[in-house]
Amino acid sequence: MSTYPFERALVTGASAGIGESFARLLATAGVPVVVVARRHDRLVALASEFANIEVLQADLQTQDGIDAVIRRLNDTNNPIDLLVNNAGFGTTGVFDGIDPERTTQEIALNVNALVRLTHAAINVFLPRQHGYVLNVSSVGAFQAGPTLAVYAATKAFVTSFTEAVHEENRKRGVHVTALHPGFVPTEFQAVSSAKDTTSNIPKFMWLKPERVAHAGLVAVARNKAISVPAVLYKTLVIITKIFPRGAVRRIAGSIIAD
Ligand SMILES: NC(=O)c1ccc[n+]([C@@H]2O[C@H](COP(=O)([O-])OP(=O)(O)OC[C@H]3O[C@@H](n4cnc5c(N)ncnc54)[C@H](OP(=O)(O)O)[C@@H]3O)[C@@H](O)[C@H]2O)c1
Repeated sequence: MSTYPFERALVTGASAGIGESFARLLATAGVPVVVVARRHDRLVALASEFANIEVLQADLQTQDGIDAVIRRLNDTNNPIDLLVNNAGFGTTGVFDGIDPERTTQEIALNVNALVRLTHAAINVFLPRQHGYVLNVSSVGAFQAGPTLAVYAATKAFVTSFTEAVHEENRKRGVHVTALHPGFVPTEFQAVSSAKDTTSNIPKFMWLKPERVAHAGLVAVARNKAISVPAVLYKTLVIITKIFPRGAVRRIAGSIIAD
């Protein structure tokens, strides 16, 4: 018997980090999961540990990859009722020095793929008046991110977009939630060239990926618009709302910038 109310989930970015934790938590709880990412070998290795994991290799920076996932969402055999838009990465550094091709890919994945998959899933869920969409944002969504300018902006988009779609669907049986992790030790720091900027972050600020994933699953089951795991980060988010915007921006700049 599952501890979660979902019948079948699809998790993007399930080959590592928080996405892998989503997949493990769900599969262990008895919820069948479709795992999506580019690294097929990683997905196959994960699936080999469980009887209820289906592998779907897709590059969500491409239209073909997005279309493959949309086809699976529309498949009425073994229908999906939970979409977790988790795949994402960042680009770290002063904006003028960042490869514009990389930021284009970042926006394609963090924003475009997430919007397209959310649209497809909601249109599958609405006729059933049942379904769940969990979009992984970041606590970085709540303020500008000097040296993470594009990343923080993509996550601000994810939060704003998700809140709006949550409100549109609040009384239509479809739950839509934005999850805001703080620092989580995953491949993200290497992929996003953030190892140097995060090396001084104290231990108590790092959250376990499974804790973050579980908090997100509980929040979307409860139809919360926003989830911020851990009291520390809830407090920091409240502070960013109370303090003047300019002060928050300068504090963020002094912490993150070289
Ligand atoms: N870690 C943190 O501190 C932190 C904090 C706040 C928010 N977040 C957010 O949490 C989410 C998960 O991050 P994470 O920390 O778990 O990072 P991660 O360990 O780097 O995992 C990222 C996942 O996304 C997948 N992915 C990347 N590009 C893809 C593409 N083009 N198509 C399909 N899948 C792709 C990767 O798989 P493949 O490489 O196999 O494709 C991997 O499974 C992201 O949205 C991130 O922005 C993370």
